[in-house]
Amino acid sequence: MDHILSVDQFDRDSLDKVFASAQAMRQLVTTSHGDSRFAHRISANLFYEPSTRTSSSFAAAMQRLGGSVISINDVHYSSVSKGETLEDTVQTLGQYADVIVLRHPEVGAAKRAAAVSNVPVINAGDGVGEHPTQALLDLFTILAEKGTIDGLTITLLGDLKNGRTVHSLAKLLNHYNVQLRFVAPASLAFPDDLAAELTNQPEVSETLDDFVGETDILYVTRVQKERFASEDEYSSVKDSYVIDTNTLAKMKKDAAILHPLPRVNEIHPDVDSDPRAAYFRQMQNGLFVRMALIDMLIGK
Ligand code: NCD
Repeated sequence: MDHILSVDQFDRDSLDKVFASAQAMRQLVTTSHGDSRFAHRISANLFYEPSTRTSSSFAAAMQRLGGSVISINDVHYSSVSKGETLEDTVQTLGQYADVIVLRHPEVGAAKRAAAVSNVPVINAGDGVGEHPTQALLDLFTILAEKGTIDGLTITLLGDLKNGRTVHSLAKLLNHYNVQLRFVAPASLAFPDDLAAELTNQPEVSETLDDFVGETDILYVTRVQKERFASEDEYSSVKDSYVIDTNTLAKMKKDAAILHPLPRVNEIHPDVDSDPRAAYFRQMQNGLFVRMALIDMLIGK
């Protein structure tokens, strides 16, 4: 694989390889914190949108494997503010770094970057488009929590229109035999064109209660405030769903709750101490999966 731009690049075989490698990375970090296979190698983290977990887990992944990181986390302090194009910035960083991790507000930005880059590009989120590495770590987490993906009932909840993580995750689940459930306010429904690509056709509702009792994986998302035209429009849907201890009482005893984070109000902190709250384990899995992905792109 030359770049990681979309989940469309992965099939069941390559997914299994990523998960086996991520599991080996977990072992490596647990036993010896990492190794030095990427000594003198550099990754450039180029983030045109805010990030905490994605940028720091990609940085930690490179550093745990002995490499180092150029971080451009606020492009306003870079030549981007002088009007430099994405293409020129990417070609610049390719002179210094061995891999570029890019987050950008426009759909297709990672593809544009890859077209001019002389080093591998990893899509770390392109607007409302895709977030392939998040979907990979989400699947790895489902596997870690449940031991399997096939056969599960997976409910995606929240802003299914603008959430790029659910767009990538739903597509990646095409490789498994799962029951999909979509819960969103009508105005934030999963896009029809993407739904047409799904092999597991979802049952859809505006009410979580319709599916909460049968759900094995509850994947909660934030209403994507930055994608709304006005504050009023955002306010009318922002608190559509809140997962709290009442929700937990209706859920299966062995269910797992995932969230790509950050959360705003969607999951009450009282839920955090329940063993079904998997979102902190999920973010740690992000480190192992990103170590595996960097190794796949620039390792031997
Ligand atoms: C997500 C993103 O940026 O799309 N965050 C992340 O990468 N963990 C989800 C979000 O911002 O709601």
